Amino acid sequence: MDHYLSQDRAPVLEALERMKRARLVPFDVPGHKRGRGNPELRDFLGPKCLDVDVNSMKMLDNLCHPVSVIKDAETLAAEAFHAAHAFFMVGGTTSAVQAMVLTAVGRGDKIIMPRNVHRSAINALILCGAIPVYVNPQMDHTLGISLGMRVEEVEEAIRRHPDAKAVLVNNPTYYGICSNLRAIVSLAHAHGMMVLADEAHGTHFYFHDDLPISAMDAGADMAAISMHKSGGSLTQSSMLLCGPNVNAGYVHQIINITQTTSGSYLLMSSLDISRRNLALHGREIFDKVIRLVEYARDEINTIGDYYAYSKELVNGDSIYDFDITKLSIFTRPVGLAGIEVYDLLRDEYDIQTEFGDIANLLAYVSVGDRPKDIERLVAALAEIRRNYRKDSSKMLKAEYIEPEVVHGPQEAFYAEKEALPIEKTAGRVCSEFVMCYPPGIPILAPGERITDEILTYIRYAKKKGCQMTGPEDMNIQYLNVMK
Ligand SMILES: Cc1ncc(COP(=O)(O)O)c(C=O)c1O
Repeated sequence: MDHYLSQDRAPVLEALERMKRARLVPFDVPGHKRGRGNPELRDFLGPKCLDVDVNSMKMLDNLCHPVSVIKDAETLAAEAFHAAHAFFMVGGTTSAVQAMVLTAVGRGDKIIMPRNVHRSAINALILCGAIPVYVNPQMDHTLGISLGMRVEEVEEAIRRHPDAKAVLVNNPTYYGICSNLRAIVSLAHAHGMMVLADEAHGTHFYFHDDLPISAMDAGADMAAISMHKSGGSLTQSSMLLCGPNVNAGYVHQIINITQTTSGSYLLMSSLDISRRNLALHGREIFDKVIRLVEYARDEINTIGDYYAYSKELVNGDSIYDFDITKLSIFTRPVGLAGIEVYDLLRDEYDIQTEFGDIANLLAYVSVGDRPKDIERLVAALAEIRRNYRKDSSKMLKAEYIEPEVVHGPQEAFYAEKEALPIEKTAGRVCSEFVMCYPPGIPILAPGERITDEILTYIRYAKKKGCQMTGPEDMNIQYLNVMK
């Protein structure tokens, strides 16, 4: 590789610097003209930011058809992430997940996936008309979290659906749990199926040996990585990685079906700079994160009642590995739902955590955190326990509710439907999503039967303060069901 294509370079950043030096007179979009046309915005975001909020031009390449600096930046990213090809994505990891699903399956094709996928994966099925074959994730009945897919169950799904085209795997789940990706890849490949990994929460796996195996190293065909999560880039910037057997030209066409023709250079330069940072310093960055999280876990576990879990959960199958950078905390023994602790932390202690569900809290720790921030979190959790502890015996235990898939997501979403008061929907087939966001894993997806158990769960999550989203009725008092 020549010097220009080495990991200490950042081709998009360098091109933007050249453009600034060229002092172009802009008679192109964006209309704010380097911020001069919008002083308020320029004051708020700063001139450095608006100076590089520019559109594609010859010296900056074009995201829709990269031939120079974006292509070079993507080549460096592919090398850093052990991929054959990397695509810069400016529509979040949602767009990367959807591009990989749309690449692998079309109308009527089957795709094997766990049910605890992010909504972006099922939304991709609404777009393309493929049919999900769910491998129900195992549950940890104490923690109330869904785990990984057992290899045996993937094997069974493949045996029952040998015509499936692909298997999608979370690597890891939001809580940090990994399936045996290498074994799933070899099973799927032996049956001619592609493997797609949602690595929204696994970008850092590529840069530290103490972390679970990454999708590309496990031989997966495609992976959607959230650079804007653990990778440090700007919100909404993401990457799609492809292995050597994927037709990158075709993937490119798929991406261009929905991707903007005005890719943001703020987002692209942030991907370029963050890739360089990870390639050069990733190991030490994640060393520091691991140390911070291990310290936090130890401290939280000495408070009492809370349980910050880690690798001791590993069972060689449904929890094949655990991402030790995740600070996932079981809160139910304190008598509080995770979402209640989340609300208390924000309202009473000015601490914003990532999310809380009905039994767990996730605090997101990164290289940007300092030991004193961890101390504040630990002290706040201890005080919450002292001041708000309740009897936990009547709390709802989160159980995995196995969905009855009556119709494919596309058919159900576009079907004739009626809006019914939610309490009158038991037994009907839902034609929209219901989920808590975050984490954005559907409680109900289009095409699934609504049951009393599901309605109880929704009522409980609403009562505890989970932010519910999905339905057309923003108040979630009505649900659209198929006629
Ligand atoms: C597992 C998973 N996949 C995909 C996404 C989508 O990412 P984005 O918000 O960048 O579109 C998320 C978002 O949180 C996620 O948790």
